[in-house]
Amino acid sequence: MGIEVVVEGLTKSFGKQNIWQDVSLTLPAGEVSVMLGPSGTGKTVFLKSIIGLLKPEQGRVLINGVDMVNSPERDIMETRKLFGLMFQDGALFGSMSLFDNIAFPLREHTRKKESEIRRIVMERIDIVGLLGAEGKLPGEISGGMRKRAGLARALVLDPQIILCDEPDSGLDPVRTAYLSQLLIDLNAQIDATMLIVTHNLDIAASVPDNMGMLFCRNLVTFGPREVLLTSDTPVVSQFLAGRREGPIGMSEEKDAATLAAEQQADTVPLPTGPRTVVPQLEPSPGMPVRQGALRRRERVMSMMGQLPEAARTAILDSYAPAAGGARA
Ligand SMILES: Nc1ncnc2c1ncn2[C@@H]1O[C@H](COP(=O)(O)OP(=O)(O)OP(=O)(O)O)[C@@H](O)[C@H]1O
Ligand SMILES: [Mg+2]
Repeated sequence: MGIEVVVEGLTKSFGKQNIWQDVSLTLPAGEVSVMLGPSGTGKTVFLKSIIGLLKPEQGRVLINGVDMVNSPERDIMETRKLFGLMFQDGALFGSMSLFDNIAFPLREHTRKKESEIRRIVMERIDIVGLLGAEGKLPGEISGGMRKRAGLARALVLDPQIILCDEPDSGLDPVRTAYLSQLLIDLNAQIDATMLIVTHNLDIAASVPDNMGMLFCRNLVTFGPREVLLTSDTPVVSQFLAGRREGPIGMSEEKDAATLAAEQQADTVPLPTGPRTVVPQLEPSPGMPVRQGALRRRERVMSMMGQLPEAARTAILDSYAPAAGGARA
């Protein structure tokens, strides 16, 4: 079963540039979460901080009692083995076949025999639908195949926590839809805790159990998907609707003066009205039930009292038998 990731009061700067401050959230064990945010808000920096590759100045990231910020490097390295990481750019070695690329972490971090490595690699290649392409070089396959190869490589060490940085970038809508299903099926199969960074609104709306958003150096919100999908918070609704009107401008954020004026004068009329919450993707037929989804149902039910009305309604609808939700 996946492992909970607890982030407490995390603050990161590069020199004088503060990236975000006082970020706190919990990635619930075995659930899928998505982090949104305009370009440059520090999503990649956040993923790297969780895995201990970047060091925030303040705060903690607790995984099985190890603090990925402040613990001795030895403990951090050990805990890092729990992770599978899929980079924004795929990060495959161009001169190595897909097989060797995907086998790389096993050869690097384990003493497994070559026959065992072959078994594991071929199994992962099968999961991501790349059987037959294992002998090809990254340059000989499509961008979508490279993405899936990157995902296969993230899976070889049996990760309990999976971080995906824009797994959809460069994919066409159909491949993105397949990728969404693949992420859910993967979660059903291995019950890993997953955090996905994406700009893709379809993925955001249909894949995760939970969503968060970084903006203006803060974590604006993090919670059950229904809370964000029905949110009236301007940055959240603007982003999820892909609108120009609202606090988010072309250069990441509108300048402070414009923003303050807009907010004070309330000059930006934000379209309101009922927002439909699309049903979350279910695992494909034949896949196991998502254990994370079962745990989430109890967790969300227990926090109902603290949720806004629109989110409560959406949650109850999704769990109503007629809606076809949560066939547990
Ligand atoms: N190693 C580094 N040294 C200095 N500044 C950095 C470093 N890494 C990232 N930054 C800065 O931190 C900010 C956030 O970068 P990050 O890559 O996390 O953004 P992002 O939200 O992932 O953007 P995108 O959606 O475009 O991928 C940027 O201003 C970037 O220039
Ligand atoms: Mg990024």
